[in-house]
Amino acid sequence: MATIIDGKKISDSIKSTLAEQVASFPSKYGRVPHLVVIRVGEDPASVVYVRNKARACEAIGIKNTTLVLDASISEDELLAKIKSLNGDDGVDGLLVQLPLPAQISEAKVIESIDKNKDVDGFHPANVAGLWQKTPHMEPCTPKGIMRLLRETGIDPKGKRAVVIGRSNIVGLPVAKMLLDANATVTLCHTRTVDMPSVTREADILVVAAGRAKMVTADMVKPGAVVIDVGMDRDPQSGSLCGDVDFDSVAPVAGAITPVPGGVGPMTIACLMQNTVECFLNKMGALDK
Ligand code: GUN
Repeated sequence: MATIIDGKKISDSIKSTLAEQVASFPSKYGRVPHLVVIRVGEDPASVVYVRNKARACEAIGIKNTTLVLDASISEDELLAKIKSLNGDDGVDGLLVQLPLPAQISEAKVIESIDKNKDVDGFHPANVAGLWQKTPHMEPCTPKGIMRLLRETGIDPKGKRAVVIGRSNIVGLPVAKMLLDANATVTLCHTRTVDMPSVTREADILVVAAGRAKMVTADMVKPGAVVIDVGMDRDPQSGSLCGDVDFDSVAPVAGAITPVPGGVGPMTIACLMQNTVECFLNKMGALDK
């Protein structure tokens, strides 16, 4: 039976370290960091994610403003809002929760956020930094996955990693980060032929496919580390589940992340780290 990787516990420890750090900021810098989260519309998953981000800020002592904008807002109006927050010296971190309504270009929104406030690490300048190994903000979920591996004592060096999914948010950046950690990386996706033959080679299997329970025991090498980035609804029961069929895979895997309680909390903990990093960068306090 696999070790269950407790993302909640690791994220709690990251957050309590951050809380101590943030408590020292008013005397050092005169204020605490301020994160602004914009939600457009009422996408149910976004409502939950945004609320969890606000709660994490409260727990750590980071000032948080959640702006809820009507789903009918125009692209120009949203871009104007972002521009004004970019210029607000009292705002250190800024993110717009995705997905956005169809009338708004996500690419334009991501590009419009000041790269120095881009706590998501989605801005083209930060993406370029990741691929070119120059200073950049790391995207939260891939950063959280790498931290989970490190905290669990798993060194990707020399291992075979397989990533399912090639999104800008998770698949591509986590593949690059595993590569930089000296894993040999294979990316697969919906057009991959005979996916089980590929995934069975994996010592580390990262699943960010967005399809409920798609990874089953026959796709997993015995003893592999399985990281489930999914946040899905089980079509049968309607309950929350991941991209990995946990009950089938857990007996085969060496270690596995649960859903909920695995990658999700780590994403939020890393968002909090990025917010502190943006704040400290602004205060000229990093590289000390
Ligand atoms: N939607 C799903 N994941 C994310 C994320 O990490 N950041 C933002 N802004 N939107 C998301």
